[in-house]
Amino acid sequence: MKIIARHGNVVIRELLASDLQKLCEYANNQKVAINLRDKFPHPYTMEDALWFKAMVDAMDPRTIFAIEYKGEYIGNISLTPLDDVYRKSAEIGYFIGEPFWNKGITTEAVKLITDWGFRNLDIVRIHTGIYEYNKASQRVLEKCGFTKEAVFRKSICKYNILYDEIRYAKIKD
Ligand SMILES: CC(C)(COP(=O)(O)OP(=O)(O)OC[C@H]1O[C@@H](n2cnc3c(N)ncnc32)[C@H](O)[C@@H]1OP(=O)(O)O)[C@@H](O)C(=O)NCCC(=O)NCCS
Repeated sequence: MKIIARHGNVVIRELLASDLQKLCEYANNQKVAINLRDKFPHPYTMEDALWFKAMVDAMDPRTIFAIEYKGEYIGNISLTPLDDVYRKSAEIGYFIGEPFWNKGITTEAVKLITDWGFRNLDIVRIHTGIYEYNKASQRVLEKCGFTKEAVFRKSICKYNILYDEIRYAKIKD
């Protein structure tokens, strides 16, 4: 099993076939899906998980990983390198199962993958856009030293309601 980074009880490692049952369980949650793009399926089935694992396995370089807490799979974290004139940037994404929220786990995981990304990928910038109502995710990035750069007003249409997107970024030292 390939471990990408670890600190305390939090490990970032490759996604395993044995994670997929828990992936389905944690991903199949409206409170998760509402914060993600529409391509994140809801309901989330084993067929979706198998497709996701095959997609991850085909990546080169592989930049979607599992988050493990106290030896247990709890969610995913990713860096998606961009292309063309954005080729020195990557978009960060993450989710963890609801039973593990508000324990500081994602904050630790974001710190780990940000550090790993700046050391191992040819990028100088990591960013993402967070929907205005997702205060927990905004707080995570603030705790990890990301800067709030902009508000893209009414740019998100989720379940047919318009929301602002808050853009956060971190630049390599
Ligand atoms: C967003 C998410 C990743 C956060 O993970 P987490 O492990 O619970 O985050 P942490 O515990 O590291 O930090 C959460 C912070 O948000 C705060 N928070 C939680 N809910 C909040 C709310 N409604 N309003 C304000 N702050 C809130 C917590 O108090 C904590 O901050 P603190 O340490 O200053 O007290 C998790 O809730 C999740 O997976 N959500 C669904 C998917 C998602 O939103 N992905 C991100 C898309 S951009």
